Amino acid sequence: MVEMQKIVSLCKRRGFVYPTSEIYGGLVSSYDYGPLGVELLNNLKSLWWKKFVNSRPDMVGIDSQIILNPKTWEASGHVSNFKEVVVEDKKTNKRYRLDHLIEDWVKDNPNEVSKDFVVEDLTSDEMWDFVVEHKIKSPFKNELSKPKKFDVLFPTKIGVVEDSVSKVYLRGETAQGIFTNFKNILDSTRQTLPFGVAQVGKSFRNEITSGQFVFRTLEFEQAEIEYFFNPKQTDWKKLFDEWKDQMWQFVTFDLGISEKNLKWRRHTDKERSHYSKDTYDLDYNFPIGFKELWGIAYRTDYDLAQHQKHSGVSLEYQDPYTNEKFIPHVIEPSLGVNRMFLMVLCDAYIEDSDRVYLNLSGKLAPYKAAVFPLVSNKPDIMNKAKAVFGSLHGNYSTYFDDRGNIGKRYRYQDEIGTPFCITIDYETLENDTVTVRDRDSMVQERVEVSKLSDWIKEKLKGYK
Ligand code: GAP
Repeated sequence: MVEMQKIVSLCKRRGFVYPTSEIYGGLVSSYDYGPLGVELLNNLKSLWWKKFVNSRPDMVGIDSQIILNPKTWEASGHVSNFKEVVVEDKKTNKRYRLDHLIEDWVKDNPNEVSKDFVVEDLTSDEMWDFVVEHKIKSPFKNELSKPKKFDVLFPTKIGVVEDSVSKVYLRGETAQGIFTNFKNILDSTRQTLPFGVAQVGKSFRNEITSGQFVFRTLEFEQAEIEYFFNPKQTDWKKLFDEWKDQMWQFVTFDLGISEKNLKWRRHTDKERSHYSKDTYDLDYNFPIGFKELWGIAYRTDYDLAQHQKHSGVSLEYQDPYTNEKFIPHVIEPSLGVNRMFLMVLCDAYIEDSDRVYLNLSGKLAPYKAAVFPLVSNKPDIMNKAKAVFGSLHGNYSTYFDDRGNIGKRYRYQDEIGTPFCITIDYETLENDTVTVRDRDSMVQERVEVSKLSDWIKEKLKGYK
């Protein structure tokens, strides 16, 4: 697996990801997406949306606010339960998540614990006992303070009056905007169970652990689905397995990720969130190890029942055929968009003896083609190159580059994953053909300009 530093460096060098507010020294666990990063993110999100919303009759989407009525988070249990156990380095006062410190220690001392040891099985008291027993210190080898609970939800205030009423939260998951709109969706659409509601958007968590690039950030995007069903009519285990299959298929087939870098991990009873009856994580082999990319949980009727109780509004569904009234149950596949982005880059990163390239799938590559005039000081060649560019960029995102030698231009496109580089040269002026160089094989072939657009379309279909 590629080292994280190489991905960080490529992302900065080529405009995928920049540290946030870099000119002011950055901001912890925060990153901005540059010109190429935003294209890749958009490609990923639109692929996901097309697959899970647009191409299915049983799915609709919404876009709710980031700041919701704060009662939402009391009802969902986040205000009381969404906390991490943290300890402080007594000398530097730096905070660490206790489970992460233990995980790091276990990595260095694998023989000190049983094979099936998972830190998530320990309560906060048991984690602290573990630290004391094994004399675990901070990464700076200093003593640690006793553990405290730390709120993960980001509080903020609205309005001018400073009182408890004005305290609100930046959403910690997009899911709650779906639950609080459940009645509106029932009343305004003709969906019948089973059906799902999707949302893609920003979530916020006051994360303690830093240094994991876009894997764990304060602000991130989630692509979540709440799939509602009648538990008397639908076998949840079967539905759960069907969703797991679809998640796997999306990652391996649509995104083209190697199966060897993926595995399922079931949450243990102690680890599972308060709302879930069964949870699996689809883990990817990130440079920091196998870690969660996408979670799937059976949330039962927990959320709708909680919101019904706290709001006093009925969130029951009435079956149009049997008139039975009940609170639907829900299965939730929840994907981190930024982790999908990082996974795609890590999986596509290839270092050859003399070049680095990203073998991104044709669907994901920020640019599908690049057009190069061989030289920039010959008007005929420049004009022809501009005409070729003009004929392509309406159909495919296309890059135009007339700077420096061709070798350098190829290297640049390789590093940003552009499948095809098209060079307009002297022969083009004679027979209206161009050289097309393939990113992965570096093989070059001549293609007639009149057939170029269709040629690219065909080739892109089979690209990865
Ligand atoms: N609604 C369920 C939920 O939010 P989660 O496992 O806490 O479940 C879902 O989060 C996904 O969101 C994770 O699988 C992960 O990909 C992504 N995610 C969570 N915290 C993140 C963070 N701090 N930075 C980036 N992605 C994060």
